[in-house]
Amino acid sequence: MQHTETLKEVLQFYTDSGVDMALDEAPHNRLVAPNHKADPVAVVMQPDPVQQSAAAAPSPAFTPPPAEAKSHDVYIQEAKTRAASAASLDELRALLTEYEGCGLKKTATNTVFEDGNREARIMLVSEAPGRDEDLQGKPFVGRSGQLLDKILAAVGLDRTNVYIGNVLPWRPPGNRTPTNAEMELCKPFITRQIELMNPDLLVFLGASSAKNLLETTDGILKLRGKWRSYSKAEIPVLPTLHPAYLLRQPAQKRLVWRDFLNLRKAAVEKGILPSDTA
Ligand code: URA
Repeated sequence: MQHTETLKEVLQFYTDSGVDMALDEAPHNRLVAPNHKADPVAVVMQPDPVQQSAAAAPSPAFTPPPAEAKSHDVYIQEAKTRAASAASLDELRALLTEYEGCGLKKTATNTVFEDGNREARIMLVSEAPGRDEDLQGKPFVGRSGQLLDKILAAVGLDRTNVYIGNVLPWRPPGNRTPTNAEMELCKPFITRQIELMNPDLLVFLGASSAKNLLETTDGILKLRGKWRSYSKAEIPVLPTLHPAYLLRQPAQKRLVWRDFLNLRKAAVEKGILPSDTA
């Protein structure tokens, strides 16, 4: 009985820490020196070159991928070629779903590509699916999504007049922050998704999408609320805070309220929204 209670406590500890899924059938002892037989999990996870070079010594837990595995650069090139060849959102979705370059796909349940209206003139780009999104295959269906719907409704928007995508279409295990390598490996797809949508206005939700797509190291608190121009197409983009951050820091909702009023003003000026809504 006591054994069962202890097990429950351990599982609760894991869940509270964000460890809510198993990556393999059997546990791995990460503390023993690696043997050189390829560890399937280590092979699946592409190493982050930035983090790798920053580390003073190679981690004993990391087993290098086998020589025949494609390199990070090859996978990036493949992502670029695939994304560029997509002539429509449906083609892009199919090409992304078949792409094996990003290790996150191996642990995800679904490829989460889009939600909202493909005819919309406003596109929101966020970071990556969470647990609920991974299970349902649609962006923003969990608690963050419910908050996002309220934010949109407050300025006269909903999922019929916005379109939603993510930089990463696969959930990082335990909702950890995606690595730079994972973002790079998937970036050609979101870039093409924006190109194919060609929206009049863009919103980047949260630090990962804003920093990655604007190619800046500035933090989200500095970036938010200021219109920038995205890509050669010069699409006006407004970076703002991520709804999941607002769930943890509700006092910051006032900043996002301001940002979405700003978005609404721009949408009215562009004739996307009539001036008498909200
Ligand atoms: N958070 C995101 O960044 N994207 C989703 O789709 C859901 C939660």
